[in-house]
Amino acid sequence: MRYEDFVDTAYQPGKDELICDFYVESTMPIKKAAGGIAAESSIGTWTELTTVKDYMRKLAATVFYIKKSGEGYRVKISYPPELFEAGSMPNILSSIAGNIFGLKELVNLRLNDIHFPRKLARSFPGPKYGIPGVRRILGVRKRPLIGTIVKPKLGLRTKDHAEVAYKAWVGGCDIVKDDENLGSQKFNPFRKRFLETIKKRDKAESETGERKMYMVNVTCETEEMKRRAKFVADNGGEYVMVDILTVGWAALQTLRDLDLGLVLHAHRAGHAALTKNPKHGISMKVIARVTRLIGLDQLHVGTVVGKMFEGKKDVLENCAALKEDFYGIKKVFPVASGGLHPLSVPELVKIFGTDVIIQSGGGIHGHPMGTVAGAKAMRQALDAVLSGMSLKEYAKTHEELRVAIERFGR
Ligand code: 3PG
Ligand code: 3PG
Ligand code: MG
Repeated sequence: MRYEDFVDTAYQPGKDELICDFYVESTMPIKKAAGGIAAESSIGTWTELTTVKDYMRKLAATVFYIKKSGEGYRVKISYPPELFEAGSMPNILSSIAGNIFGLKELVNLRLNDIHFPRKLARSFPGPKYGIPGVRRILGVRKRPLIGTIVKPKLGLRTKDHAEVAYKAWVGGCDIVKDDENLGSQKFNPFRKRFLETIKKRDKAESETGERKMYMVNVTCETEEMKRRAKFVADNGGEYVMVDILTVGWAALQTLRDLDLGLVLHAHRAGHAALTKNPKHGISMKVIARVTRLIGLDQLHVGTVVGKMFEGKKDVLENCAALKEDFYGIKKVFPVASGGLHPLSVPELVKIFGTDVIIQSGGGIHGHPMGTVAGAKAMRQALDAVLSGMSLKEYAKTHEELRVAIERFGR
């Protein structure tokens, strides 16, 4: 079969087929280019083969839609489910988002969306907790959750790290997390950090009467990651965070399959290497769908108003991928994180609604009166928004918020 033989624009995909939505720019005629993508991800290659058997022809992927879009084309391809190993995300992605990105004639190629058919989707567990489970554990029914990242991201010794976490909790944060690149460095080794910080969590819980969560970062080599996650579960932890792209999809599946009862928080460090160029790579929406299937409970999706590059449209699409109906698979909590501070809160609630985790690192630990006041200012900003008051009005009777406005409103 030649590349063009994989194109049939009259074809109607079956319900059980996986569908990919691509943007394609090519030096080849579009029919050949689009057919090439379908061929390379199913039963074809650059030349005709003598080894193709009649029984496998039904396994061919089919280009069923080609339409001019900007400088390139929108191309939709359907893939018979038999092409994939159920329950294996590495296998699926090696197929539909693999070799094709390297084809010389494809000047730009972007996987904008994937539709997973029910049976393939249900071969993955999905989140154990998702939005309702996380709310149940925290005992917070409706409002957005407030989190922080211990800052500076690297360098704090264990005792100081735990103290910063404690201050953030007593100030009003629900969640404290490690930063994405904190592993088990000499200045703050994993096990010691977890034990000291969790002690402070208990202290903060008894002092505030609120549930408090610590998301320790288990990102590392897979076997050690498993040991660290077990250590957390065995020592009173309820959460771990993991950098989903640097550990890889297989390691994520391993972590989910351990089923230790931990809430899993997904940090997307490195995603922009795939997602930032609107003409090439893989969209964040696709990463969100994949993360939901594998079964993480929370995922960073961009901020709109903070330091992350994505605009409102993209962020809302990412949120929809986490929250829309999806064969009964639980909804993932969207996380807004990066460059946020108390002044961002009104806009964030407008954009995300109340099912969001708002995380602020610099915006809390950069408060001129320190971490406790920084966390208080975040909660005050949220209280103001939820009671329908402007931050300025609320700040008249809340000193921490007033100082935050002065500091971050510049
Ligand atoms: C690979 O995995 O490297 C490709 O499948 C190469 O296949 P080809 O020689 O048919 O292009
Ligand atoms: C994160 O990991 O989400 C960031 O560390 C956010 O930090 P910032 O609030 O200081 O930008
Ligand atoms: Mg960070």
